[in-house]
Amino acid sequence: MSSIPVFYRNAVRHLKTTGSIAPSSRFLAKAMLQCLENRSHSLGIMEAGPGTGPFTKPLAAMLEDGDQLDLCELNDDFVAHLHGLLDVHPAMKARKDQITLYHQPVQMLEGEDRYDVIISGLPFNNFEPELVQDILDTYIKLLKPKGELTFFEYAGVRGMKRWIASNQENKRIDAVASVLQKFFKAYEKKRMLVLWNFPPATVHVCRMD
Ligand SMILES: C[S@@+](CC[C@H](N)C(=O)[O-])C[C@H]1O[C@@H](n2cnc3c(N)ncnc32)[C@H](O)[C@@H]1O
Repeated sequence: MSSIPVFYRNAVRHLKTTGSIAPSSRFLAKAMLQCLENRSHSLGIMEAGPGTGPFTKPLAAMLEDGDQLDLCELNDDFVAHLHGLLDVHPAMKARKDQITLYHQPVQMLEGEDRYDVIISGLPFNNFEPELVQDILDTYIKLLKPKGELTFFEYAGVRGMKRWIASNQENKRIDAVASVLQKFFKAYEKKRMLVLWNFPPATVHVCRMD
């Protein structure tokens, strides 16, 4: 089951919400999933914006008995593709009973203190600042105390966008940067640069303490 045609069809059709020109690399996936490496108990995990599953497949392979993985994706084609993967991808099929797929915007997910870990692939730098704030508030609400959020941005993306952007677009980029800076100040614990990705990416690891 090839992910590539599904990804590119949707990258072109839904540029704003897909927000990338290539699926993430296995090197970026490894950095995004570092928080699952040294764990002492079973975990509630949510992946926001799994797309065609470049993080989901290795994540499924890291699941242990007692873990629960919720996937939250709004794009119809990606949801259909993920449903297919649950039947054919070996690691996802093996853990199918522990994986729930939500076909909705992540900011509509309900509940509090549901997850130990959130892995977010959402393209914040494409969004309006109010939506970024809304999604970050949702993550804070959904994470348990000491829960961890890992997300990525393309390295230097805001600076590059500024070169070609209109005044109005620059205001949006600055407002998104300001929302993210406040969040980093409160919660960011670690930052990693992943060069082996197209484009290179910065991974932000944030903890609710
Ligand atoms: C940059 S792509 C990342 C896809 C994949 N995780 C990767 O790294 O290649 C962003 C993904 O987030 C999804 N997305 C965008 N906004 C969303 C939202 N509000 N709720 C859930 N998914 C969303 C898009 O449909 C897309 O699959």
